Amino acid sequence: MHILGVDIGGSGIKGCLVDTTTGELIGERHRIPTPQPATPAAIAHTLKALVEHFDWKGPVGCGFPAIIHHGIAKSAANIDPSWVETDAERLFGEITGLPCFVLNDADAAGIAEMRFGEGKGHEGVVILITVGTGIGTAVFVNGHLLPNTELGHLMLEGMVAEHYCSDAVRKREDLGWGKWGKRFNHYLARLEFLFSPDLFILGGGSAAKMDKFIDKIATRAPLLPAASLNQAGIIGAALYAASRQGRKQSRRG
Ligand code: BGC
Repeated sequence: MHILGVDIGGSGIKGCLVDTTTGELIGERHRIPTPQPATPAAIAHTLKALVEHFDWKGPVGCGFPAIIHHGIAKSAANIDPSWVETDAERLFGEITGLPCFVLNDADAAGIAEMRFGEGKGHEGVVILITVGTGIGTAVFVNGHLLPNTELGHLMLEGMVAEHYCSDAVRKREDLGWGKWGKRFNHYLARLEFLFSPDLFILGGGSAAKMDKFIDKIATRAPLLPAASLNQAGIIGAALYAASRQGRKQSRRG
């Protein structure tokens, strides 16, 4: 099955057709800068433009950088505050005229990595962490997702963890990879103390730079870069849409 997977982020909205049986991207990825302010109406229009770019008429999966509870945004840490309580699934469905399925962006990346990437076949507790403007997490137990974990909002050194060791903080404070790596290790150590994971998977831009800070990571559980690096969010969003669409059809049938 082919599905349009979309990763909605603070700086870009990226989409690509995905073959959900293999997890492969079909054709070229397309990126549109996130409109500012990133209000529900502005993002919805950008999503429509993305759908039109692909001339797409099928289901759409969207990873979104907030808590998404049954299609409704429940937080807005790094997006416009007017998203809180917005029914993202309904809004996107109305503007595109297509079935849209929305989930948290880190959960989307985690779903892709568990199906086709580093988490494939992994039993036990796996935590995927995406490090970008914010920090997102996806927690799996024997391959099952506990959605919306928001562990980027744990308190560390008196502040929210994503204000201490996100990629945005690394850039803003001009931290070298070594200094940032020490902070990130501190964060992972807290996650390890709380959840005793068997594996950490790193997504987001810093996954491609792991050689620059891996010597600072001292967790018991290994830390591996996501196999599909920055595409995991797109692939996972498409997989999520495929499973929701499948359930919808089997209820009808
Ligand atoms: C949000 C999460 C999101 C993460 C990564 C955090 O600020 O609270 O929902 O997954 O950023 O985008």
